[in-house]
Amino acid sequence: MEPTRDMVQYYAERAHEYERIYQRPEREADLRALRAVIAASFDGRDVLDVACGTGYFSACAAARARSLVGVDANEQTLELARAKAIPNASFRAGDAYDLGPAAGRYSGLLCTFWWSHVPKDRIDAFLRNVHGRLEPGAVVLFADNKFVPGNSTPLVRTDEDGNTYQERRLESGARYEVLKNFPAAGELLGCARRFGSAVELQELTYYWCLRYRAH
Ligand SMILES: C[S@@+](CC[C@H](N)C(=O)[O-])C[C@H]1O[C@@H](n2cnc3c(N)ncnc32)[C@H](O)[C@@H]1O
Repeated sequence: MEPTRDMVQYYAERAHEYERIYQRPEREADLRALRAVIAASFDGRDVLDVACGTGYFSACAAARARSLVGVDANEQTLELARAKAIPNASFRAGDAYDLGPAAGRYSGLLCTFWWSHVPKDRIDAFLRNVHGRLEPGAVVLFADNKFVPGNSTPLVRTDEDGNTYQERRLESGARYEVLKNFPAAGELLGCARRFGSAVELQELTYYWCLRYRAH
């Protein structure tokens, strides 16, 4: 049987096992560094956390922020985020591609492990939409995976636009084909410079972290 391709359904079904990805011992030092950067980035700010998932990184950002609103497409992940009872944080359903004015306006944007799931031809529209929710000077932080041969899930195909895909299997045995891109540093820096200034790209072993100030 062909694997399923529905990204929202994949994360709904994966929600209860999702945080195991943050328990891989070889990634712990990188994760510690990433959590520290996130925690230190949003002092006193009102933060929008797009595709917040189970709220694993929302908790880091909220620790020193004034407020945090997490948005995700799945009730399954939002329930787990709400169960963390993070002070100053609330979580609501929404679409990363179409946040809409009801999402409010923010002085910080956190978006972790979502960029890699955005098809290349939607990156620009996605960034324009989220930037429409930000005040000038907002702190923006994106982080995601680097492809590490022998450690990352292998890529099974590349489509005509250059998007790459992995096959993933869940506890239930269900198989999904998931779009997962690994953008080059130049691509990330180019996007950041179109939407902001004071751009910094930190490359760890397993992750990259892009920070800038929104125009
Ligand atoms: C890789 S997880 C990242 C979760 C979290 N940011 C983290 O770093 O742990 C991707 C998340 O995107 C959510 N998602 C999928 N499609 C979405 C969409 N169109 N809009 C908003 N969230 C979406 C999934 O439900 C999932 O929680």
